[in-house]
Amino acid sequence: MRSLRTGFRGTGLSLAAVVTGAALLLTAPVAHAADTPLRDLAAAKGKVIGTAVTGSKLTGSYGDIAGAQFNSLTPGNAMKWGSVEPTQGSFNWTEADQIVAFAQAHNQQVRGHTLAWHSQNPSWLTNGTWTSAQLSTLLQNHINTEVGRYKGKIAAWDVVNEPFNEDGTYRSTLWYNGLGANYIANALTWARAADPAAKLYINDYNVEGVNAKSTALYNLVKSLKAAGVPIDGVGLQAHLILGQVPATLQQNIQRFADLGVDVAITELDVRMALPADSTKLAQQAADYKAVLAACVAVTRCVNVTVWGFTDSDSWVPSTFPGYGAATPYDENYAPKPAYYAIAEALGGGTTTPPTGACTATYAVGSQWNTGFTGQVTIACSGASLSSWHANWTFGAGQQVTQAWNAICTQSGTAVSCANASYNGSVPDGGSVSFGFNGSWSGSNPVPTVTLG
Ligand code: G3I
Repeated sequence: MRSLRTGFRGTGLSLAAVVTGAALLLTAPVAHAADTPLRDLAAAKGKVIGTAVTGSKLTGSYGDIAGAQFNSLTPGNAMKWGSVEPTQGSFNWTEADQIVAFAQAHNQQVRGHTLAWHSQNPSWLTNGTWTSAQLSTLLQNHINTEVGRYKGKIAAWDVVNEPFNEDGTYRSTLWYNGLGANYIANALTWARAADPAAKLYINDYNVEGVNAKSTALYNLVKSLKAAGVPIDGVGLQAHLILGQVPATLQQNIQRFADLGVDVAITELDVRMALPADSTKLAQQAADYKAVLAACVAVTRCVNVTVWGFTDSDSWVPSTFPGYGAATPYDENYAPKPAYYAIAEALGGGTTTPPTGACTATYAVGSQWNTGFTGQVTIACSGASLSSWHANWTFGAGQQVTQAWNAICTQSGTAVSCANASYNGSVPDGGSVSFGFNGSWSGSNPVPTVTLG
């Protein structure tokens, strides 16, 4: 076995006397989903709870959770122009169709994403040289084709995505540069014509709090409404950083609602520096709860969508190296504290994950006059972990002197052992063990171990 860390001085262990110790089974927090699915809790509040999805993954546990917990799906990439028309005039609707069919089979809404954006456009479009008239026709045809194809099947479209810079000026894009700001009104008008029943949104990021960018969006929506342009809602993406939910989130949602449009939180995630630990996950839960609570508090905030429900299907790690764990479920589909926070904000009973699914067993292996070896086994059944801390308090004069397969620290009588880089994952039905050498005097009682 590999010795990971020797946080404590060796004690010159002797193997003179050997005594087999006792084992004690103790329960740990985590990992059954709440009794009532999020979608039912949301419905009872008059809200919709959604997730972005990848079509190819909609089977097995991923499909089960997406179908059971959410009543709205957003294709994470499948409806973007680059996905549906990779070659001009040659369409690929496979993944988009699959997601729409899955949603219909599971009685879910679909949020269409997205029609006029500067990113993920096909190369034939971005590399082409177009007159304004040609560009306008291309955009109109694209909207007609895509919105028309899914007419009656899409609850809301992100018609225009990310039109603003941080300072509230218009972003320099294919559309703005070629067509001027009027492309926004035109895109909305064309979308309305193609599917009169779909709610039409403008969607952007860093517009969650009151700031220059959200104020520019506010002013745009106000002027569109005044001009009679069909605009039904604003999407606040909410790609947030741990501990940084804007204090003005609810106020901002309310000011848009007061303009007479709906508001949706369209792409919620809360990223953190990796590795995740129990403190960060608790903060993340508080952040998710704050966002949900702000939406629940405003009648016209109609939908909260997470941008991927599992850490195994999140854009964050590849875009922000060293960051991740941004979604409500871990990579093994175990609900995280954030999941329970969402449930509670939607009126569910508890933020405390049920106990008993993952357990920690502490055993004294051998014991001699001044020393002993200990082993802790973490086992999961009906649950899983992506990282763990095993914590206990020694009851007598015990001291961890050397640990392996975990990183242990001891302060006074309090011991905390974190997973190593390679054994944080404990799958459903699996277990992980770590060991340590310790010294003792007087007695060597078995402590209570908790998982965090
Ligand atoms: O499909 C290819 C695959 O064939 C290839 O092997 C792989 C190699 O990199 O790339 C795959 O494409 C990736 C695609 O996601 C599908 O996974 C692209 O590289 C990658 O750039 C793309 O990222 C997407 C990103 O938009 C692009 O800006 C994310 O999945 C998607 O979640 C993200 O979503 C956006 C919203 O649309 C708008 N708001 C911000 C949000 C996060 O960036």
